[in-house]
Amino acid sequence: MKKVYIETLGCQMNKSDEERMLGMLQWLDYEQTLEPKEADLLIINTCSIRQLSEDKAYSAIGTWGKWKKTKPDLKIVFAGCVAQQKKEDLFKRAPYVDLVLGTHRLYELPELIKRIEAGERVCSTEEVVFPEDNLDIIRKKGVNAWVPIMEGCNNFCSYCIVPYTRGRERSRKFEQIMGEVKKALSEGFKEITLLGQNVDSYKGVNEQGEEVNLAGLLRAINSLDGKFRIRFVTSYPTDITDELIDTVVELDKVCEYFHIPMQSGDDEVLKKMNRRYDVATYTKICNHVREKVKDVTITSDFIAGFPGETEEQFQHTLDEILKLELDYSNTAAYSPREGTVAAKWVDKYLSKEVKEERLARLNETVREACLNSNNKYVGREMEILVEKFGTNKHGENVISGRTRNNKMVHVPCDENRIGEFVNVKIVGAKTWYLKGELI
Ligand code: SAH
Ligand code: SF4
Ligand code: F3S
Repeated sequence: MKKVYIETLGCQMNKSDEERMLGMLQWLDYEQTLEPKEADLLIINTCSIRQLSEDKAYSAIGTWGKWKKTKPDLKIVFAGCVAQQKKEDLFKRAPYVDLVLGTHRLYELPELIKRIEAGERVCSTEEVVFPEDNLDIIRKKGVNAWVPIMEGCNNFCSYCIVPYTRGRERSRKFEQIMGEVKKALSEGFKEITLLGQNVDSYKGVNEQGEEVNLAGLLRAINSLDGKFRIRFVTSYPTDITDELIDTVVELDKVCEYFHIPMQSGDDEVLKKMNRRYDVATYTKICNHVREKVKDVTITSDFIAGFPGETEEQFQHTLDEILKLELDYSNTAAYSPREGTVAAKWVDKYLSKEVKEERLARLNETVREACLNSNNKYVGREMEILVEKFGTNKHGENVISGRTRNNKMVHVPCDENRIGEFVNVKIVGAKTWYLKGELI
């Protein structure tokens, strides 16, 4: 068998694409290796959300290009979001690349690999709708299976490259999704996470020919037999409907967890970001979710140092994180992305120093909010799904897993219980995790 090494950067959508690439490559007798030097085929699956992620891709393949001198049959594929965006230009930058594979052409991989094996050099990035039949997936081992239900974005936030790398919103077929979920459950996965850039925009048609939205899809999956959990990410704030919230409350397998990126706590900045809500609207949505869904965890994303952001506006973001009691937030300093609207506001760019300094304060506030959130659960009994078994720095055996509301809990335990649901008592809170005891 030939060997393929895939390095994946970026979000879960890319990780999910990697699993589909591995599935398709087995048709060509490729097996995965975790050692790039052993590989006959090297794939970099790239992310372009920030300059830093893009640069990581270039530095990785720079090394691979040199290996070709001593291993002339080695094939190199540049895939993912940077490939979709930069297209043929990548050949100029990295002449040793054999295939530039855009996100829209993922399903063409086997055919394209055959062509590069025959000595061709190919760039395939044109946006076309691909048939989804006969999909094979080799999932990463673990308890959670990621299942993409929609891809792309129509929102065009002024800072964001995703609409250019993933294209317009499109939903996957209902029966395809259900088939993948059933297969993952039969393989022993205990948690299904439905994935999409705007997961609430999912629109499908079920076997009876009826339209199905995200709430309907959750109902269909919830009705499958067995004990497992269901999650979904990411929600665009204003797309969260009452029906969806009620469905989360009603369905036993759907977990109490919403990821609702706010991006900024200031109305002016939100407007410039082209987000379609203000702070009051976001607050209403959060409060509504919290009133209805007991023990819900709400996480968010924030950008520090958006072009023209004043110190006062930035302060509003810090205030909102604490006021809204956001349980956890991803953070990043603004990074201009070529082709987006905000990238043109060069005269409004903030210096690297200001952005970094704001990011540090943002992270400090996120840590504070996270610890506040974790403290609320001390003394409670909760169910975790065990993901890991190992030894901590004190030499103790520990199992770790997430609660339904997505809090990580570490629990002393001598038995490997990966994949099991275990009830624990929360006895302590740290910034990034809870400490538990078996009960
Ligand atoms: N669809 C999701 C976000 C997907 S991108 C939403 O609408 O919220 C993931 C995160 O990357 C974003 O939430 C944002 O916080 C961050 N991000 C996107 N573009 C960025 C940029 N140019 N600079 C810094 N962070 C960015
Ligand atoms: Fe990017 Fe905005 Fe779309 Fe999210 S909603 S993927 S931030 S353009
Ligand atoms: Fe990055 Fe593409 Fe995901 S740009 S964040 S890998 S959709």
